[in-house]
Amino acid sequence: MLNMQPSLLSVDSIALSFGGLLAVDRVSFAVESGQIFSIIGPNGAGKTTIFNCISGFYAPNTGNISFNGHAIEGRSSHKIAKYGLVRTFQNIRLFKEMTVLENLLVAQHNIANRNLISGIIKLPQYRKAESEALDKAEYWLYQLGLTAFANREANSLAYGQQRTLEIARCMVTEPTMLLLDEPAAGLNPKETEELDELIVQLRDMYGITVLLIEHDMKLVMNISDRILVLDQGRVIANDLPSEVQSDPAVISAYLGEEE
Ligand SMILES: Nc1ncnc2c1ncn2[C@@H]1O[C@H](COP(=O)(O)OP(=O)(O)OP(=O)(O)O)[C@@H](O)[C@H]1O
Ligand SMILES: [Mg+2]
Repeated sequence: MLNMQPSLLSVDSIALSFGGLLAVDRVSFAVESGQIFSIIGPNGAGKTTIFNCISGFYAPNTGNISFNGHAIEGRSSHKIAKYGLVRTFQNIRLFKEMTVLENLLVAQHNIANRNLISGIIKLPQYRKAESEALDKAEYWLYQLGLTAFANREANSLAYGQQRTLEIARCMVTEPTMLLLDEPAAGLNPKETEELDELIVQLRDMYGITVLLIEHDMKLVMNISDRILVLDQGRVIANDLPSEVQSDPAVISAYLGEEE
């Protein structure tokens, strides 16, 4: 029988230009539920711009994006997060002066759209939601090894821990799919290996589908089910890691760069 299950995420011929620069040029790809799908390519290839289109930070000029049955191109990032698609940023964006725990509570408020009035007068259902939010925050702090830092300012954490906190901030919203923009940037080899394990765990234990932008080739080749390669806004390959590694076009556009 034919597999008629639609892809969890499908990106269909999206394009976006900034002035005269065509940053994303008719890019299409599909991510299946449960995959770890990576996007690689040289600096300026358009990777983050594609993330911005998928997560509602930019609207593509043309093309369609569907996630879990919803047409999401041009929708707000808030709406898209409510559908279960959340992201981290290439440059860490935490509330730096809030505590680690507060960062995780705020993330849940943003998603829940909780009624302000019921918050002020502390209705029982509000208190229940608050205590669930706290439980969820504590759960993810524990899972990601951040419990000891719960009451520290986000600012005061080591860089690698801030990256982990960004992932925790996504996870408390109980997403279906995570978009990670260079999560290993600035991490040492040991931290990168731990991140590697964490991403696989999120998929295997929690069924999270992962779309990953990453320059660390070892990480990408180790954990990806499939890899999309971009060069100057265009797709030059979409294949298994083993195939991508030996694709001459990819080697000349990207992998060769590192030698
Ligand atoms: N808001 C913007 N305004 C103007 N140009 C932009 C904007 N965002 C991105 N660009 C340009 O679009 C192109 C693609 O940028 P993008 O950030 O998507 O690349 P990238 O593949 O994520 O690169 P990197 O690996 O360096 O993060 C680049 O030439 C960049 O300068
Ligand atoms: Mg980028």
